[in-house]
Amino acid sequence: MTLKLGDTAPNFTADTTEGRIDFHEWLGDGWGVLFSHPADFTPVCTTELGETGLLKEQFAKRNARIIAVSVDSVEDHKAWARDIEKYSSEPLNFPIIGDTDRQVSELYDMIHPGEGDTSSVRCVFVIDPNKKIRMSLTYPKSAGRNFPEILRVIDSIQLTDEYSVSTPVNWQDGDDVVISPALSEEQAKEQFPEGWKEITPYLRLAKQPNKRVR
Ligand code: BEZ
Repeated sequence: MTLKLGDTAPNFTADTTEGRIDFHEWLGDGWGVLFSHPADFTPVCTTELGETGLLKEQFAKRNARIIAVSVDSVEDHKAWARDIEKYSSEPLNFPIIGDTDRQVSELYDMIHPGEGDTSSVRCVFVIDPNKKIRMSLTYPKSAGRNFPEILRVIDSIQLTDEYSVSTPVNWQDGDDVVISPALSEEQAKEQFPEGWKEITPYLRLAKQPNKRVR
């Protein structure tokens, strides 16, 4: 099944390094990031999971929990955690799903046979408090992901859920944002009293609403 943005993230129960979970219960009413890695005891994956642990507080600031999955066993994950800690100097601080029966990997279409074997490629799903999939990305096994980019996308989604804006190319939290073309000049004046820079009538750049000096 191909999952699309706006679909409900499929629920499952699974064993993890932190015990058995019901995924939707584990998500609670916050945001979630589910990401797959091809295999334990492999170099790129070790760097990715180490980096993720170092970013735990950054995810928590966004009310987001993070969970990894691969087709290895929980016992393997626990043994591998010692190597991850050697890389990051941080004990493993988020759960890894043991998906030996490939239930989760198949539910989320993480196994791409054209990529060589039956382990998962590098997928990421950002899930909102309504359990909707808001972002997904798929990388080849050879390319480690950029986890600050995942934080950046969560920032963008959370901002654009709250205000009538979108975020332009290479946007970072605090940069100017794009006023929704759906807002009339009058509506834009109300919501952006400090004004904006008009590049074209449909491309109006304004200060990020929740960063304006009041
Ligand atoms: C790695 O994590 O280094 C890796 C895993 C599977 C295939 C290629 C690279």
